[in-house]
Amino acid sequence: MTLIFGHRGSAGTSPENTMLSFLAANQAGADGIELDVQMTKDGELVVIHDETVDRTTDGSGFVKDLFLADILKLDASYKFPDFLGKAQIPTLEEVLKWVAALPSFLVNIELKNGIVDYPMIEEKTIELVQKYSLEKRTILSSFNHYSLVKCSELSREIETAILYVEGLYKPWEYAKQVGAAGLHPHYLAVNHTIIESSKSYQVAVRPFTVNEEKWMQDLFENECTAFFTDFPEKAVEERIKYTEKE
Ligand code: G3P
Ligand code: CA
Repeated sequence: MTLIFGHRGSAGTSPENTMLSFLAANQAGADGIELDVQMTKDGELVVIHDETVDRTTDGSGFVKDLFLADILKLDASYKFPDFLGKAQIPTLEEVLKWVAALPSFLVNIELKNGIVDYPMIEEKTIELVQKYSLEKRTILSSFNHYSLVKCSELSREIETAILYVEGLYKPWEYAKQVGAAGLHPHYLAVNHTIIESSKSYQVAVRPFTVNEEKWMQDLFENECTAFFTDFPEKAVEERIKYTEKE
């Protein structure tokens, strides 16, 4: 069965990367969530997609230049007037503590260290995953593949997955070279051959970000490992339709 990960929670219906969004994804019946991690000036891991707080909150500036105490004062519900004042930027620890209490719920932590080189982001993330005993329910991904190699060296127990956008040649072989057990491609960079060849190499394929029904159905038919969607509720409905059709 193709698993469904709520992208930034349920980013199509709730303020992305907030607890409201993660709760919505879980309530929708998603198998797990995806989230993005950046680091504050005082070295705390926080869950936010961009390097700055400008797009998603009422504040401004780079996360790396703000202290956690300042970050926590921001309203992260900018795009969703119904939620105004109700959503904070969560810490990674807050989200992992919540995931740990949900039996079998999965989490994909994307390290956002492609632009800013956050010192020790790999060590700090893995330490938290271990603190909540989430090694078997966590996937670490990044567009920074050097960082993924470092993660694999720090922990052999936690799966790593390669994020990429375009036509990587034989990505299942590249995954092995990087020590990754997963490929997270842009959904338009995936086809039947990539899914099948990767599976024969025991490499999981989880495309992002799949929001249209026709692409969801295509991935169900191809028995893709999983996919990320901003609309987990819709994806769960589509999966039910697919299984009833079979
Ligand atoms: O992890 C899949 C996807 O989240 C990667 O792209 O920009 O949405 O973080 P982005
Ligand atoms: Ca992401």
